[in-house]
Amino acid sequence: MSATSWGEIIKEHRPVLLIRPDVLVFYPSEGDPWTEKQILSDSKTFFVNAVAHELFSPLSAVMGLLELAKEGDRVQENLLKMERHLNRMQRILEQLILLSKIEQENYQPFVRKIDLGQVLKEVVHEYEQRIAQKRLSLSLEKTNMMIEADEEALKIVLRNLISNAVKYAKESSHVEIKTIGDLLSVRDEGLGIPEQELKNVTARFYRAKNVRGISGSGLGLAIVKHILRRLNVTWAIHSKLNVGTTVFLELVGVEE
Ligand SMILES: Nc1ncnc2c1ncn2[C@@H]1O[C@H](COP(=O)(O)OP(=O)(O)OP(=O)(O)O)[C@@H](O)[C@H]1O
Ligand SMILES: [Mg+2]
Repeated sequence: MSATSWGEIIKEHRPVLLIRPDVLVFYPSEGDPWTEKQILSDSKTFFVNAVAHELFSPLSAVMGLLELAKEGDRVQENLLKMERHLNRMQRILEQLILLSKIEQENYQPFVRKIDLGQVLKEVVHEYEQRIAQKRLSLSLEKTNMMIEADEEALKIVLRNLISNAVKYAKESSHVEIKTIGDLLSVRDEGLGIPEQELKNVTARFYRAKNVRGISGSGLGLAIVKHILRRLNVTWAIHSKLNVGTTVFLELVGVEE
């Protein structure tokens, strides 16, 4: 990624939070940028604790539903609900396993050539039901781009970004996923993030004031930040309250 492209993003998309592997820079709509050195000691204990904590709520939900089902109460409906919670637990465990791999001193990302369009299609497919429920129109630009990446890690990043876009989008609005040069962007027309809170959203457990009514743990972007830092990838979040949010992510293309 050339500096000029990030330069253009910063120029054209204020306010924006730029997240480099070593430093966070927040460019407000007006005024001077604010920087914060990334602390490398985001310890593994934190992530293990946080993710384990996240497993508790779907687990208790499953236990409750299981009791109801055992008593013969709306068995089919309760089984479906349990399946949903179990899927969530599976996803969290996948994140935990990947994170513990990434945390190892000798971690080498399993980088290989992957078909970006295919990976995007697979991840979007996981959210089809929610997309339909909210009557969102989602455009996924066709891309033949082959990139060098660790597929498992990339999928976790994409799941978090796309699930945020879908979750915080307004009903019947548009979500757009596309590549511009070496950047991937995920854009929604949703609640957006209050400008004074934008610099905080990658902190663990941080949730902006305007999303209090929507469920979430505030862990997704912290995990994304952690993974991308280990993979040495720069990314950025541009957002305007009640207008929408765009996340930009640097990709490493390969010659076909
Ligand atoms: N696309 C978006 N639109 C509006 N706000 C967003 C968006 N993405 C992130 N945010 C804000 O950033 C906060 C942190 O996001 P993050 O994904 O880390 O947590 P979450 O979505 O609340 O919970 P989860 O851990 O389930 O992902 C959100 O709570 C929200 O305030
Ligand atoms: Mg999230």
